[in-house]
Amino acid sequence: MEENLTIPAHVALILDGNGRWAKKRGLPRQFGHKKGCETVEQTVEDAARLGIRYLTVYGFSTENWKRPNEEVGALMQLFRYYAKRLLKIATESNVRVRMIGEKSRFAPDIVEAINRLEEETKENTGLTFIIAVNYGGRDEIVRAAKKAARDCMEGKLAAEELTEEVFSTYLDTDQIPDPDLLIRTSGEMRLSNYLLWQLAYSEIYVTDCLWPDFNREELLEAIRQYNRRERRFGGVSKAETK
Ligand code: IPE
Ligand code: IPE
Ligand code: MG
Repeated sequence: MEENLTIPAHVALILDGNGRWAKKRGLPRQFGHKKGCETVEQTVEDAARLGIRYLTVYGFSTENWKRPNEEVGALMQLFRYYAKRLLKIATESNVRVRMIGEKSRFAPDIVEAINRLEEETKENTGLTFIIAVNYGGRDEIVRAAKKAARDCMEGKLAAEELTEEVFSTYLDTDQIPDPDLLIRTSGEMRLSNYLLWQLAYSEIYVTDCLWPDFNREELLEAIRQYNRRERRFGGVSKAETK
């Protein structure tokens, strides 16, 4: 690649600003979500071309059910459409799709489409595209704790064996490495209940760009910034140990 950048293996995205993008244009919020989905599609392609191995996007949080019915309904319609469309795209571009979050709250046809998407793309060897839907970091940790507790009660796990490594296998992100870089669009400096366990040591990059305007150049700029960071993981600066 032209700039000789280290490409993060796993990029997590909080795609924010769809509503503001629409408002700026005097359009209903739904239009921002529609354009935002097109941006997701393009970003999956850009990420794969850049050599990113895992891309996790926050599509719908456990708190987003608080939004007006009309907006939630429009988002569900988009999931319906994209669950089918993604199957075609993923198959053509060798992308493996995974969902994290608590699926059962969705309509049965959406759950079925999600299951099919995961099942039919699971052998693909290109980019792993992870979609967080009805996802909340706290909800994920609580569900993981319940599963571990159940295994303890059934004698499959001893409490002493529950290390960080073992616990992480109970999370929805089992077998997925932690994100190296978190990108949040539209300027907000918060996690909004995203990947609370997994983001422990990720580098954070926030851009003012509204999600529907995000593009390859924005992604590259985030990666450039990432390349300027020194990840210490609690240790000391390499310069000081010389
Ligand atoms: C992100 O855009 C998409 C979802 C949360 C589903 P928003 O809808 O949060 O857009 P803003 O933050 O209101 O601009
Ligand atoms: C985070 O965005 C959730 C998603 C991107 C799906 P929100 O717009 O819901 O977050 P807050 O409300 O600004 O924290
Ligand atoms: Mg928002």
